Amino acid sequence: MRTRLAVGVAVLALLVQAAPASAAGPLKSITKRYVGSAVAVQHLNAEADYRAVLTREFDSVTPENEMKWGTVEAVRGQYDWSGADAIVDYARRTGKSVRGHTLVWHSQLPDWVGGLEARELRKVVKNHVFTEAGRYRGKIRAWDVVNEAFNEDGTRRPTVFQEKLGDDYIADAFRWAHQADPKAKLYINDYNIEGLNAKSDATYELVRSLKRKGVPIHGVGIQAHLSLLYGFPSGMKENIARFAALGVDVAITEADVRIPVPVTPEKLDAQAGYFEQVWDACHAVKRCVEFTTWGFTDRHSWVPGVFPGEDAACLFDAELRPKPAYTRLNP
Ligand code: G3I
Repeated sequence: MRTRLAVGVAVLALLVQAAPASAAGPLKSITKRYVGSAVAVQHLNAEADYRAVLTREFDSVTPENEMKWGTVEAVRGQYDWSGADAIVDYARRTGKSVRGHTLVWHSQLPDWVGGLEARELRKVVKNHVFTEAGRYRGKIRAWDVVNEAFNEDGTRRPTVFQEKLGDDYIADAFRWAHQADPKAKLYINDYNIEGLNAKSDATYELVRSLKRKGVPIHGVGIQAHLSLLYGFPSGMKENIARFAALGVDVAITEADVRIPVPVTPEKLDAQAGYFEQVWDACHAVKRCVEFTTWGFTDRHSWVPGVFPGEDAACLFDAELRPKPAYTRLNP
C-alpha cells in the first residue's frame, strides 16, 4: 500500500514537472530575445526538478560562480574547470547558448592575484583571459569581459586592476578576449546602470570611447538587480536606446527583484510589475537581445546573505511554481 502511494506521488511529481507553466508555452518560446537564467552546477547535478524547469523555460544559461577566476584558478597554475565544463556540456546537450561570466572582476578574485606588482599582474590577467576564453572558444555566445568597473558616481572603481594597470586595462581585456574567441560577443557588465544616472553615463562614455578607438566591444550588460525597497529606475528604455545607438547590443544579464519579507500578495504583484517593466524596456529596443534572470527559483538565492530581510527575488517559488511575476510576462 505504502509502495503504491509512493509510486503515485512520484508519478504526480513527474506530471507537475512536465506541465508547462503557461498555456502559451515556455518563456523562451514567446520572444525573439534570448531568455536566460544563472545556473549553479551543484543544483543542476543534484535536483531533477530544478534541471527540468531550467531546460523547459530558458534557452540561455549563465554560470553563477563556476567561471569566476576564484573558482577556476584559486591556486596559481592549478585549474578546476569541472563546474564550468559541466554547465557548457549541459548547454550543448540541451541546445542552449552560454553567457560567460566573468573574465575580469575585482570580486571572487583569487588571493594570489591581489599581491602582484603591475607588470606581473598584466601578464597574469592576459594569461587568464586567453586561457579561459580560449578553452571555451566557439562555445560561448557572449562574455561579460569586464564586470562592475565603476563607482556609483561614475568614477572608476579603485580595483587592483585599475590601481595597478590604469584606465587601459579595460581595452586590453577586450582585445585579448577577442583574440582568444573572435566570434564571442564581448560585453561590459554592471549593476545600477538600468536607468539614466552618473554610473550609466560613465558606462556610455566608456563604450563610446572604446568604439572610437576600435576596441572590440559588442555589448552592454545591464544586471538589473532591483528591490521593492526602491522605486523603479527612471529612464530605462531611454538608457537602453542610447547604448544601442552607439552600435552595440544590450542584454539584461542578472534580473531579479528582491522583496522585503514577509512576502505578501501585494508585494508579489508589485514584483511582477518591476519584472514586466524590465521585460518591456528590453523589448522596446531592437538591439536589446537578451533577458536573463539571476537564478529562477526562490529555493536558492544569493539575496538573504547579502541583503538581510529581503528575499524571494525570482520568477518561480521554492517549489518551482510560477509566481505572479512569471504569469505577468507569460500569461
Ligand atoms: O565555494 C565556497 C564553498 O567552498 C564554501 O563552503 C561556501 C561557504 O559559504 O562558500 C562558497 O563560496 C560562495 C560562492 O558564492 C559559491 O556558492 C561565496 O561564499 C559567496 O560569496 C558566493 O556568492 C556569489 C557572489 O556573486 C559573490 O560575489 C553568489 O553566489 C552569486 O550569485 C553572486 O553573483 C553576482 C554576480 O557574479 C555579479 N553581479 C552581482 C551578483 C550578485 O551578487
